[in-house]
Amino acid sequence: MGGKVTVVGAGFYGSTTALRLAEYNIFDTVVLTDIVEGKPEGLALDMNQSRSIEGFETKIIGATTSPEGAGYEATANSDVVVITAGLPRKPGMSRMDLIGVNAGIVRGVAENIAKHSPNAVIIVVSNPLDEMTALAQIATKFPKNRVMGQAGMLDTARFTNFVAEKLNVKVGSVKTLTLGSHGDTMVPVPSRCTVDGKPLSDLLSQVEIDELVDRTRNGGAEVVALLKTGSAYYAPSAAAARMAKAVIEDSGAVMPVCAWVDGEYGISGVYLGVEAQIGRSGIKKVVESKLTDSEVEALKAAAEAVRAKQADVQTL
Ligand code: NAI
Ligand code: 2OP
Repeated sequence: MGGKVTVVGAGFYGSTTALRLAEYNIFDTVVLTDIVEGKPEGLALDMNQSRSIEGFETKIIGATTSPEGAGYEATANSDVVVITAGLPRKPGMSRMDLIGVNAGIVRGVAENIAKHSPNAVIIVVSNPLDEMTALAQIATKFPKNRVMGQAGMLDTARFTNFVAEKLNVKVGSVKTLTLGSHGDTMVPVPSRCTVDGKPLSDLLSQVEIDELVDRTRNGGAEVVALLKTGSAYYAPSAAAARMAKAVIEDSGAVMPVCAWVDGEYGISGVYLGVEAQIGRSGIKKVVESKLTDSEVEALKAAAEAVRAKQADVQTL
């Protein structure tokens, strides 16, 4: 297939994403960067040494960068860039507690990426996700379709896992959907959930469904509370890597992602978790599907909550 993908930030999220992308064996090059000198080079060396065992040819290149832009030449002309740079939460912190420090990091990264890879599709994962996605678009000045955020794939996968465990069925038989923000106004969508094609409401009581919805909304915090020193990265990296794969393959896959919404569901002018068709141009199309009235209301409430914060990031 070919192509170049850069993963900015070689922490837990970035390094697992880089390895997943390399193991797909569809890119020529995966570039992994970090400001910690030697860390991305060391991780890249280690990952390259796994190539003959795992059977992939993609070359991983590690590059130390500075916030001012040194080292970004290694990322030049990337087709896709995944931004994972930034602090993760600690127990008791909300994603929003990270906004000040991560805004400075994401703005700088986005400006450097725009300079060296003017045609890239950007996938943001740094938290708070909806706000950092909006900020990356502002800082890159890229068209809105070429900047998206990863949250819905992860939150949906968590919902699917919880339903499968509750009913003791294969995850492959479960379909769920989560929209809205990657925060307090996340909108799990029970009306779109099925198990072997049967509606979830035929299989679980409303109280049981509400419990799974709550657990999904708190899915990130549940992992943080157990890890104590950082946040989740196996499921998050799987989600971001699949999005990057859909871009480079121009697959047209429909995924829940943080995308610019312009009229869908009666909502406009905000980055929000919705279903969208992903391809080489980034977001090909936001896909509006049938939701219940209360789910649409919850989505509108999420839009208003993130709209205010997304306005704030312009000055951060
Ligand atoms: P981590 O602390 O393991 O890694 C972050 C890395 O970013 C560090 O290696 C750090 O040196 C690097 N970094 C900081 N400033 C940089 C800069 N200017 N340029 C390049 N690299 C820089 O954290 P982890 O677990 O990898 O999480 C990364 C981010 O992803 C956090 O903000 C976290 O909250 C977020 N996250 C988002 C999820 C989502 O669903 N959107 C899910 C999980 C985490
Ligand atoms: C997560 O949902 C913390 O956003 C991160 O795991």
